[in-house]
Amino acid sequence: MNHDLANEIRSKVDIVDIIGERIPLIAKGKNFFGVCPFHDDTNPSMSVSREKQIYTCFSCHATGNVFTFLMNYEHIDFKEALKYLGDKVGIDTGSVKVTKKSTKYDKLYDAYKLALKYYQNNLNSTVGKEAKKYLLTRNIDENIIKEFEIGLSLDKKDDLTKLLTGKDYDLTTLNRIGLTADTHDVYNDRIMFPLYDVAGRVVGFSGRIYKDNGSNKYVNTKETDIFKKGEMLYHYHIARDECRIKKFVIVMEGFMDVIRASTIGINNTVALMGTALTKEQINLIKRLSNNIVLCLDGDDPGINAALANGELLLNSGIEVKVVELPDNDDPDSFILKHGKERFEGLIKNAINYSDFKLKRLRDKVDFRSDEGKANYINRVIEETSKLDDPIRREVVLKRLAKEFDISYNTLEMRMNSLLKDEKKKDEVVIPKKETTKKDKYTKAFEQIIYFMLNNDWVITEVEEGKLIFPSNVMRKTCSEISYYYKKYGEINVADFYTSIQDKEDIMLLINSILAEEYNETTSREELMEYFNVAREFATKEEIKRLTGLMKKEVDPLEQAKIAEKIRKLKLGDN
Ligand code: CTP
Ligand code: MN
Repeated sequence: MNHDLANEIRSKVDIVDIIGERIPLIAKGKNFFGVCPFHDDTNPSMSVSREKQIYTCFSCHATGNVFTFLMNYEHIDFKEALKYLGDKVGIDTGSVKVTKKSTKYDKLYDAYKLALKYYQNNLNSTVGKEAKKYLLTRNIDENIIKEFEIGLSLDKKDDLTKLLTGKDYDLTTLNRIGLTADTHDVYNDRIMFPLYDVAGRVVGFSGRIYKDNGSNKYVNTKETDIFKKGEMLYHYHIARDECRIKKFVIVMEGFMDVIRASTIGINNTVALMGTALTKEQINLIKRLSNNIVLCLDGDDPGINAALANGELLLNSGIEVKVVELPDNDDPDSFILKHGKERFEGLIKNAINYSDFKLKRLRDKVDFRSDEGKANYINRVIEETSKLDDPIRREVVLKRLAKEFDISYNTLEMRMNSLLKDEKKKDEVVIPKKETTKKDKYTKAFEQIIYFMLNNDWVITEVEEGKLIFPSNVMRKTCSEISYYYKKYGEINVADFYTSIQDKEDIMLLINSILAEEYNETTSREELMEYFNVAREFATKEEIKRLTGLMKKEVDPLEQAKIAEKIRKLKLGDN
């Protein structure tokens, strides 16, 4: 691996910036804290150290340097992370060749590639004439067809099956990945929209009817090893870069909406594809941005979806705005009817989720009954108490007081009592590190290793001290540290981390060490105390071994000899 290059690049970036571009970080003391993106959480359990250039999560123990963060967060490999950061700081990474890792699913992805090519060819040949005509009536032109790799399945029942079985694919596999069912094709005579996973690979299709023949509008690929509907969002791989530039993400209902938006140059979009948001999808959205604009269909189901999804997103710490489309429009039809500028205007004027919710509360209230009114007023106050802006809160209360002829004070009192509760909830509580149960020997050895990573001179002391480490991985880690130090003449945790990319056992040990709060620096005297504890461990182990030996020994003379050895060891006289 290119360690020198990696270390140079790493020294030029600040992990706080790189992580901060992706998740909001708050400074607290020496460190920065944010909601860990690697497990399901709303607490700021991930700490990022500017000084050490590493991150650690108290809760799920995700740990590493800027490279591992990017690799895990962006689903890229080390070389891709290196190239990305190299570009960022202007260091040439031309010598780094990105090689695609092979996975056990490669052959499945290849099947999808073949199917994609086949469907695209159909649409572009004479058999695709009618489908093309349909697409044109829907204002989907050649450019869009190419960009979104739209294709066509034929009315033939088993042509794709034949093609793929002729190419070394067996029916069992094809059935398993949803391209065939039994001995025939899954898709017949439909316009084929490829569906991509987060890495941009085609892993499924949505097939739409284009003749009025009464069958289901869409047929989607079933759940497979590579197609998990709840773990993907349409257009995610494209939206990723775009959202970073635009600083927000627009969530739409269908892929036709996303496709349409792209024709007017709006690409920071993803589509839900008719499902309720899953946890995984919320995590994906968080990775795109913390500012989200819900732009769902204007009809009742769309409004209800906005209410439900908005609540979920808000509760996971995302800023949510909502676009209100006319009742019988979706983004697709709205853009077609009114064009780019009006649509951009809608996005710009999207209202806060809480305002949207307040407006919608009215829809369901029976204003003729006192109970209905009181309920409504209470719900409004409750929602308003969630607003951060005191002026906006006052505006809402004044309006309520006037509309229902209630004293402002009464409303304010209710609001204030809610605010007190909210405040308690809102305080940023940084979770305490869990203290793990490690015995004193493990702790001593781990502390020594941590000293080695932070103080060059300790490395030499450990080499000369001839410590006997209790486990293989600890031994390996120490020689790895020594080796690294000899090679580079210095050491720090962040760069050492890069060098153990492929050594999972060492990485796990380092993570486990970083999860504890060990001391960074030490004096020689203190270090020797740790050495003594470490040696005590070796002695104890030796006594254990000899005791075992003695029990098995039959010769009383030999037994006595061993007993003497044990006695000496116990006295510390060895
Ligand atoms: N959907 C589906 N099956 C259906 C209907 C919808 O899988 N029978 C999914 C599709 O992924 C679609 C999304 O839900 O993209 C939104 O549905 P809808 O609003 O009905 O689709 P439109 O985008 O309006 O598609 P079209 O304009 O072609 O009717
Ligand atoms: Mn729609």
